[in-house]
Amino acid sequence: MDPAGYLTFGLSFASLFTLPTYSYASALSGAATTQHVPVLLNETLDNLNIKPGGRYIDGTVGGGGHSEAILASAPDVELLGLDADPAAIERAAIRLRSFGARVKLVNANFSQLGEVACAQHFDQVDGLVLDLGLSSDQLGDADRGFGFITGGPLDMRFDPTRGSSAADLINTLDADELAELIYQYGEEPASRKIARAIVAARPIHSADQLAAVIEQAIGRRGRIHPATLTFQALRIAVNDELGALMSALPQATELLHSGGRMAIISFHSLEDRIVKEYFRAAAQEHVAQPDDPPGLVYRSATLRLITRKPIVASEAEVLSNPRARSAKLRIAEKI
Ligand SMILES: C[S@@+](CC[C@H](N)C(=O)[O-])C[C@H]1O[C@@H](n2cnc3c(N)ncnc32)[C@H](O)[C@@H]1O
Repeated sequence: MDPAGYLTFGLSFASLFTLPTYSYASALSGAATTQHVPVLLNETLDNLNIKPGGRYIDGTVGGGGHSEAILASAPDVELLGLDADPAAIERAAIRLRSFGARVKLVNANFSQLGEVACAQHFDQVDGLVLDLGLSSDQLGDADRGFGFITGGPLDMRFDPTRGSSAADLINTLDADELAELIYQYGEEPASRKIARAIVAARPIHSADQLAAVIEQAIGRRGRIHPATLTFQALRIAVNDELGALMSALPQATELLHSGGRMAIISFHSLEDRIVKEYFRAAAQEHVAQPDDPPGLVYRSATLRLITRKPIVASEAEVLSNPRARSAKLRIAEKI
């Protein structure tokens, strides 16, 4: 363990001796290469204004697509990459190995962004990316339970060593709590019906078993699988995705130096709303009013909005990568 207590994979030689938790050899032998295609890649790079010798953080390194492009965009760029999923860190380490000591990879949740960045001496950076949600590698891995067609165990944790799995949740919550979770995080109109069917069918241990229970309860509606919103809701709850995002945004703002930019890519309205509202509030100046109470502390804006409306994928990108269909990219600059 490194001093901050995170699993760290430094690609520099020095880190191999100081951070024994991951070894370079085990990363090379253990992980498959990534299948993930990064979304809105050019749009992200164009807006980050990557500069030679600049320092960047990728808080969701995944398969390393955005990280690789940032590192390759200008000479001597350095990058700190985080991912909650240890398997993602291993895969990214393989992809990014040619950048050597310019990359540091840490297996950590971005809810601890500030602490991790300071421990790795990335406390004042030129740019930061969060590409939220899950990767195609995670979705396609039957053992992770993210996809309902794969039939794997119902896990859904980004970090399979921490917290409760989706199976723990659906086998222990009561019908009201389940319905609330499915409604809040999936915006699923049939949440009550689904929750009752789940409770009646328990115990449920596999992803395909859950998908079948939901399909039987509410039937098929069009081309999208009827379990889609429930799976989204469970994944968000299991990983506290919205809580992590809300805690990461102010930390990210703090880490940027003046003129540094953050690029956030979200995939559903719950995430996008959090980013939009945070950016809007951080870009607002509190202007003194005549009836303000004495002693009020006035807050000045910390961010400048670069995108008033989110950037979405082109038709060509959506055709070649259907994951890009719901992606929204928002950019803000530290004042
Ligand atoms: C869409 S993928 C990123 C793909 C990456 N940009 C690429 O080009 O390959 C999202 C990644 O974020 C990770 N992730 C999601 N929430 C996280 C969190 N709170 N902290 C750290 N990593 C997280 C997931 O494990 C996943 O690997």
